[in-house]
Amino acid sequence: MGIGEIIAMTEKYVMNTYSRIPMAPVKGVGARLIDAEGTEYLDFVAGIAVNSTGHGQPKVVEAICRQASELLHVSNLYHIKGQAELAQVLVENSCLDRVFFCNSGAEAVEAAIKLARRYAYITKGAGHSQVITALGSFHGRTLGALTATGQAKYHEGFEPLVPGFTYVPFNDLSALEEAVTGKTCAVMLELIQGEGGVYPADPGYVAGVSRLCKQHGLLLIIDEVQTGTGRTGTLFAYQQYEGLKPDIVTLAKGLASGVPIGACMATEAVSKGFEPGKHASTFGGNPLACAAALATLDVILNDGILDNVKKVGAYLMQKLQELKAEAGAVAEIRGRGLMVGIELIGANAAAVTTACRGRGLLINSVGEKTLRLVPPLIIQEPDVDEAVDILGRVLREMQKQ
Ligand SMILES: Cc1ncc(COP(=O)(O)O)c(C=O)c1O
Repeated sequence: MGIGEIIAMTEKYVMNTYSRIPMAPVKGVGARLIDAEGTEYLDFVAGIAVNSTGHGQPKVVEAICRQASELLHVSNLYHIKGQAELAQVLVENSCLDRVFFCNSGAEAVEAAIKLARRYAYITKGAGHSQVITALGSFHGRTLGALTATGQAKYHEGFEPLVPGFTYVPFNDLSALEEAVTGKTCAVMLELIQGEGGVYPADPGYVAGVSRLCKQHGLLLIIDEVQTGTGRTGTLFAYQQYEGLKPDIVTLAKGLASGVPIGACMATEAVSKGFEPGKHASTFGGNPLACAAALATLDVILNDGILDNVKKVGAYLMQKLQELKAEAGAVAEIRGRGLMVGIELIGANAAAVTTACRGRGLLINSVGEKTLRLVPPLIIQEPDVDEAVDILGRVLREMQKQ
């Protein structure tokens, strides 16, 4: 089937929720994607921070195939070996003690919100339901996660939203302090606002938030759906904030290299908020997803991927700073590890991504001015050279126009 036919069928039968790019990838190898017409691209989108180990990672493919031939799914009514093993790996590599598995980032966030409210209900009684989140945040599209998302453009037309959410400016501790009331149960933050434009949280702010939460008996939820699974150079981004110990952490995206999975992790005490009947998921933590996640974590933790993210991420940052100094079209470069935002001087991020694609590089934009680079965590320095070379050529050409 050619690209024209694929586009026509999508437009006829699929709900119109995405402004899709006229391209249909059909195969992936490492950091490369090949489309239906046989054109190859260097993939610095990675399914929006999902294909963490790259396309077709042999250990991940082998684990999925083996598991598919043994048992795809079984209900959480039974014990699931892979789920128990996956929870153990996550717990042993974090400050959290227990894990609830689901299928997406939004579901992980829903679980986090429910757990925080339920924990407050058990420990403090009814009425402690307020959750404070940041303006510019993104937490997902289900109604609770959507309400938690501090961006009005995503809310429009979906009201009434879920009651009990308050938004405060990001990186502003006094605004957060003022927003805390006797009804607050939790603060939820991303450590790098991804969809909001790749804005990292200041270490001083995060330390202050953590202090404030302890002082007022509030839970600190860190949404690591995008920053987790090695994206920033440590398994979790919170591990780069000295002394930070969140009460709840959400994960999804890169956790199973592309097989849908989400996780809501919590401390032993907080996890007591859930008991049988209070939360559940039919598919969550099924054998297939857990096999893919176990293989992904094996690669990330044992095959040098975290060191690679630190090394190649620093190289990418250095090359982009050189580009900024030389090309003139770049206002700011932000991010950590392999989660990088390039803020352009003009509002032409979409045009830059299109021009890059025409030259064989896939990147994406968040907002009108910011390019986002979230490549597979296995990329190497020559991939960075190629990507920055294409981006540089595109920016210089656009400046001439
Ligand atoms: C920080 C964060 N939380 C939650 C989500 C929602 O994840 P999903 O699209 O898997 O529901 C996203 C998605 O971009 C995200 O970046």
